[in-house]
Amino acid sequence: MLTTIFFFAVLTVGWTRMREPSVHYAVCNLRPSSVLPNNITGTIYFRQTHGARKRKDRYMQVQVDVDNVSLLDNTNKHGFHVHEFGDTSAGCPSMGPHYNPRGTLHGDIMNQPTDRHVGDWGNLQQDPVSGKIKVYFVDYLTKLHGPESILGRGVVLHAGQDDLGVNKTDPGSTSTGNSGARLACCVIARSAPIPDDKFMP
Ligand SMILES: *[C@@H]1O[C@H](CO)[C@@H](O)[C@H](O)[C@H]1NC(C)=O
Ligand SMILES: *[C@@H]1O[C@H](CO)[C@@H](O)[C@H](O)[C@H]1NC(C)=O
Ligand SMILES: *[C@@H]1O[C@H](CO)[C@@H](O)[C@H](O)[C@H]1NC(C)=O
Repeated sequence: MLTTIFFFAVLTVGWTRMREPSVHYAVCNLRPSSVLPNNITGTIYFRQTHGARKRKDRYMQVQVDVDNVSLLDNTNKHGFHVHEFGDTSAGCPSMGPHYNPRGTLHGDIMNQPTDRHVGDWGNLQQDPVSGKIKVYFVDYLTKLHGPESILGRGVVLHAGQDDLGVNKTDPGSTSTGNSGARLACCVIARSAPIPDDKFMP
């Protein structure tokens, strides 16, 4: 009898959880680093459905719209990461290192959690002619909720290409990906619901 009651209680709790996913939204308004003048403007939109039934529906969705990225090298790629602090007191350097709550080495966004920082989002590709970056991606690891939430933390767009941590004997590679100076940054802020048409999967 007790076992039966327990069984139904678990079922009910489980069912309620599944029926009530919550959608979290955030924005980040990218601005030039005060220590490296440039004319970048941009907005990053975030959406995540906490408690969605399917694993893929729980992934963080990120839409990046950036303008006026100057051509600094011939790769047109820029390291892009979540940094530990949402602090711009002394410009983008105040954001500290990559957000790395698990104390792992730097890597690519596609890597296993043991082989990347939670804040590792790889590179963004800029259009070499227009200087724009318009990208949609999803990440299975970063979250807008829970103990590893990135709300209130920083996002940094770097001047150079992230080597994705491939050189294990180079401390630069395994910590920052050697992606160079901080071009622009912003603080991830909770936002009102963002219209679907902002996201361009
Ligand atoms: C930013 O824009 C101003 C005005 O158009 C221009 O003079 C300046 O060279 C630009 N700076 C960079 C780093 O592109
Ligand atoms: C790009 O920078 C130029 C020069 O500062 C500015 O006039 C223009 O409005 C910027 N474009 C965007 C889309 O921000
Ligand atoms: C890896 O890093 C080490 C130390 O900085 C350097 O000597 C070596 O050339 C690098 N290897 C490659 C393949 O870039």
